[in-house]
Amino acid sequence: MSPLQAVDLTAERRELAVPVLIDSFVGIYRWHAKRTLRRISTVRGAVDGDRLVGVSMLENLAPGVGYVYYIAVSQRYRRRRVGTFLLDDALEHFRAHRTEIVYAAAEEDNSASLALFKSRGFRPIERDELGYREGGLGAWGLRSKMMVVHGEVLLGVRLNPPGTSVELSPLRPTT
Ligand SMILES: CC(C)(COP(=O)(O)OP(=O)(O)OC[C@H]1O[C@@H](n2cnc3c(N)ncnc32)[C@H](O)[C@@H]1OP(=O)(O)O)[C@@H](O)C(=O)NCCC(=O)NCCS
Repeated sequence: MSPLQAVDLTAERRELAVPVLIDSFVGIYRWHAKRTLRRISTVRGAVDGDRLVGVSMLENLAPGVGYVYYIAVSQRYRRRRVGTFLLDDALEHFRAHRTEIVYAAAEEDNSASLALFKSRGFRPIERDELGYREGGLGAWGLRSKMMVVHGEVLLGVRLNPPGTSVELSPLRPTT
């Protein structure tokens, strides 16, 4: 494998990611991943030579709050750190956009995905924990945007340790 390159998949290039998604998901997840691919604001790709071998789908859910909707790697490229490369790229993307908290969801029996996110500091979030504005990681008001379903674990990480972070602006009602 040559050194991986991270690329931005703009709208006209996103169809290139469909084979990776077909390789990575089945059933409703495959349908939802393909739908998200066409609608989400940011899709990043990992390229080996001229081959797209993995993708991530990223969104800002609120000011300072990011969400990794999907990370997927072609089967024959798994366990070669492509997922790690994509997650590091995603966190870099969020940092560059002044994101403080990043969330992701994983099926509770998806050990590969859970280990990948935990390797970069993500931890499971308790249902009753303090909200992300109060110092916890509770995703109050945001869960419906994340479409977390039964059987999935919500994970989160604070990108900057306490004391170094920029204050999150409070939510204002829409006028
Ligand atoms: C989850 C996924 C993206 C990981 O991609 P990957 O390129 O294989 O991951 P990496 O090689 O970077 O592995 C990083 C770490 O994750 C863990 N990991 C990866 N695959 C694993 C597996 N099959 N079983 C257990 N742990 C695993 C390991 O801790 C690994 O570190 P190590 O190799 O030093 O032990 C990939 O398995 C995938 O595309 N799965 C299908 C789609 C999916 O479920 N996506 C996640 C939810 S959106």
